Amino acid sequence: MLRLYKARKPRPEFGLHSSNRERRGKLEQQAIEVTGLRKTYAGGKKQEPKEALKGLDLSIPEGSIFGLLGPNGAGKSTLINILAGLVKKTDGRVVIWGFDQDVNPRQSRAAIGVMPQELNMDPFFTPRAALEMQAGLYGVPKSERWTDEILELVGLSDKAEAYARNLSGGMKRRLLLAKALVHRPQILVLDEPTAGVDIELRAMLWRNVRKLNEQGMTIILTTHYLEEAEEMCDEIAIINNGELIVRDTTPNLLKRMDRKALVVEPRNEVSQEIRLPEGVTLETRPGGQMAFSYSRTDTSAEDILDALRAADVEIRDIASEQPGLEEVFVSLTSNR
Ligand SMILES: Nc1ncnc2c1ncn2[C@@H]1O[C@H](COP(=O)(O)OP(=O)(O)OP(=O)(O)O)[C@@H](O)[C@H]1O
Ligand SMILES: [Mg+2]
Repeated sequence: MLRLYKARKPRPEFGLHSSNRERRGKLEQQAIEVTGLRKTYAGGKKQEPKEALKGLDLSIPEGSIFGLLGPNGAGKSTLINILAGLVKKTDGRVVIWGFDQDVNPRQSRAAIGVMPQELNMDPFFTPRAALEMQAGLYGVPKSERWTDEILELVGLSDKAEAYARNLSGGMKRRLLLAKALVHRPQILVLDEPTAGVDIELRAMLWRNVRKLNEQGMTIILTTHYLEEAEEMCDEIAIINNGELIVRDTTPNLLKRMDRKALVVEPRNEVSQEIRLPEGVTLETRPGGQMAFSYSRTDTSAEDILDALRAADVEIRDIASEQPGLEEVFVSLTSNR
């Protein structure tokens, strides 16, 4: 079995600065607290300034696997890069692991490791050298380094001495993940970790993420694969246009996603009131079709048909529509 830590050093928790944790208030249980976060990218000669985050409030509980979803350009990477200290916020408050980014920049930075969306690495470093260098940047003492374990964790042991420029795209992404781990952050942020990654690596990545999470690491990830978010995340926030659209536990969000539509073409004029089961909504479409939207958990199609029969509606044709996750996502993000 893969060991994440040296055996002689039992460390149930992440964080190089264990004192960090003791200094935190007992009541604090949020890994990340963001309030009124704004970011406007300055415009250029031909470019308008871009308001990428419009006063975002978001808290991410300690110990969770938290999914950040949203269409291209929503502001996910902007948020993540602000958390990582790579992008300067325009306004608002960012508290990481109990440390205000403006008040305790060093501690808040030490608590978080970010795997960026963009590949950025020195082509002349080997993975081992890149990790050692990163550890040096974070001031990780030699005795605390876990370079070999990280290389094993991300499946790069056999490439440890290869030049980064000779790594495949997927291997480069693994190296980015490895770099995010060198200082044993309490919070690991993955910006689209599985984009362009093969199935095997994806599975390995999720296994490792789960393992790290089981050991107490809070995980924040962005993904465009909704099934992935559904499978991995305890909670999900959807952002669009720099604003938070919804934030809920994955089961609750899935509940919203279990709406189906029953589309009925009536043969006769509907003259009586149709007494629909609770939670069922009716939308009349061009051509007289009636689309009944219902939740599969609460209602069955049979309940709706019963209501139609009771109102003497004769049915010419009937069809069932099931929104895919994509559609639900689009419907949540498009009407803003
Ligand atoms: N350095 C920059 N200068 C100017 N505008 C930027 C910069 N970086 C991002 N933007 C703009 O800010 C908005 C948010 O971008 P961001 O990269 O945060 O989106 P995202 O949600 O990560 O999208 P994706 O899913 O494509 O990664 C976009 O409109 C983008 O064009
Ligand atoms: Mg992005």
